[in-house]
Amino acid sequence: MYEQVSHSLLNRILDQLKPEIRKRDLRYFYTRLGANFYAIYSLFHVLYGKRDDFEQQMVRLAEVMALNYIERKKSLKRLDIERENDHTWFLSQEWVGMALYANAFAGDLQGLGKRLGYLQELGVNMLHVMPILQCPKGASDGGYAVSDYRNVDRDVGDLEDLRQLARQLRKRDMLLTLDVVVNHVSDQHEWAFKAREGEQTYLDYFYTYPNREVPDMFEETLPEVFPETSPGNFTWDETMQRWVMTVFNDYQWDLNYSNPAVFIEMLDILLFWANQGADILRLDAVAFLWKKIGTISQNEREAHLILQLLKDCCQVTAPGVLFIAEAIVAPVEIIKYFGEDAVIAKECEIAYNATFMALLWDAVATRNAKLLNKGIRSLPDKLDRATWLNYVRCHDDIGLGFDDADVRRAGYEPVSHRRFLLDYFTGEYDESLSRGYPFGHNEKSGDSRIAGSLASLAGLETALARDDEEGIRRSIDLILLLHGMIMSFGGIPLLYYGDEIGVLNDFSFMEDEEKINDTRWIHRPKIDWEKAALRHRHGTPEQRLFDGISRMIAVRKITPAFADFNNRELIQTGNPHLFVFRRNNPFETDDEVLVVANFDDSPQYLDLGDLGKRTRFEYSRLRDLYSGDTPSQFKDQLVIPPHRFYWLIAER
Ligand code: GLC
Repeated sequence: MYEQVSHSLLNRILDQLKPEIRKRDLRYFYTRLGANFYAIYSLFHVLYGKRDDFEQQMVRLAEVMALNYIERKKSLKRLDIERENDHTWFLSQEWVGMALYANAFAGDLQGLGKRLGYLQELGVNMLHVMPILQCPKGASDGGYAVSDYRNVDRDVGDLEDLRQLARQLRKRDMLLTLDVVVNHVSDQHEWAFKAREGEQTYLDYFYTYPNREVPDMFEETLPEVFPETSPGNFTWDETMQRWVMTVFNDYQWDLNYSNPAVFIEMLDILLFWANQGADILRLDAVAFLWKKIGTISQNEREAHLILQLLKDCCQVTAPGVLFIAEAIVAPVEIIKYFGEDAVIAKECEIAYNATFMALLWDAVATRNAKLLNKGIRSLPDKLDRATWLNYVRCHDDIGLGFDDADVRRAGYEPVSHRRFLLDYFTGEYDESLSRGYPFGHNEKSGDSRIAGSLASLAGLETALARDDEEGIRRSIDLILLLHGMIMSFGGIPLLYYGDEIGVLNDFSFMEDEEKINDTRWIHRPKIDWEKAALRHRHGTPEQRLFDGISRMIAVRKITPAFADFNNRELIQTGNPHLFVFRRNNPFETDDEVLVVANFDDSPQYLDLGDLGKRTRFEYSRLRDLYSGDTPSQFKDQLVIPPHRFYWLIAER
């Protein structure tokens, strides 16, 4: 959009750019800057317009975008243009992701490069390498307490190894996702040291206070993220003689985004990683970016403005790069991280679907889809050109952040229902075979979350220990059922490493003093490649899981109805154990897949009349795309075996 005030500012900025920038051929850069400048200016002005140095900061912002554009390799610039031409490329059903730790999966980054064949064997083509940036030993929060944003942790390799991995992935048509921890830094970061030395510039990077006055005001409304290991949201720093805001662990200092210098630093870091070859950047803990006394300081409007601004700026320099929002918040809030509008107020193209994840676990414990159906209905439609990251497990805990109103509508009392779920997954509940562990218990609120590997939560650990063949079969079916859901729901399925071979809880973290208090380490296992080799031995759990998941992936990739163009219709059936939805091919009418999942441990029936309007599914022979079978029918009822799912098409 053209508008005089911002345009004349743009002209002034271009005049002030350093000569080495002005001399370059920046054709594409300038057209993009022109296109986005009004938005960039407006957002920057809302956030920082009152400052005397506003124009200087804008010049610096433009410089950061330009310098990173100059640094960007030709091959990446070509990719940017290709993706501009095919701007919905990431909504395709062809993408399947996996998140893994380079060291736990393959020793280091070079080792990871050698294991790409394994991922391709499975069908994974989007790799999320969990944080690899330098962190202090011990106080690292699994890589989320960064002490140097431009260097790779020596334990996994160096920058050249990462670039090499990016090249290898590109050759195999695989995408690289990297983490950028935008909300906080390690207390061992250079900025923190300079703040401790009393340098005002760096004190302004953080929220620090000489006494408890402001911290106490914040504490009235701020919840605690890690109540057991890091209670409170401020930490006293002896050297600085000040309280510093530390919402997560006491060694993670929250960055002060009301300071434009912080914003510009972080943009520079994001573009740096985009230039190392990342296709997707996972922005960590984005809900927390803006703090306000008297609020919970999550999901604030300014946090969204910051993300919009990051997106607008990134589009100027590296438009092919996507953002993932990691915001584990209520459904009505999650949806906002896509932005308000796909063109003029976009934020992140991808967001973790924590709602779906938690609801799936609810269905597992209750053996019905009552809350799942209600919860999904409350999830607002997302923007076009936005997609979910659907997952069953990840490196974090499972939070039970359902909407209480939905819980009541499903017929449960919220507090006791959450207690039941916790008991169920920690194996306290009578019939439960689950072997999860509580995480983040909050004495004050009584809340807890759940840690544990997928296989252990699904009962495989117990069944194997009891040598219970039937139990093993059931837990395998359950693991496959959950994967069947994330593959077909709409969005990019994000597998978690080890789940494809049923890796159980790993207790080795208990020998490590730095980890012992954080039960999330129980599900961050080191991969045992001898176990992985069992995927080739017929009948082993490893083989049944690996083959089941790889078959699903293969089918997903050739089923356009599974692409994500808001092409899902939830179907309410008379049977509470079933979760049923229709996916239709956005490019071809008459091409649809009916997804039917039975969360119960006994067979269930779907009345085909429940599908609403008279559909082909009632009159045709049905075929399950996943197994190739024709499911049993009894009269006009479809029979779904325990813990099974179908991806049905109506054959002509
Ligand atoms: C994100 C990460 C989590 C980490 C937290 C603080 O939520 O997923 O592992 O503890 O941020 O950085």
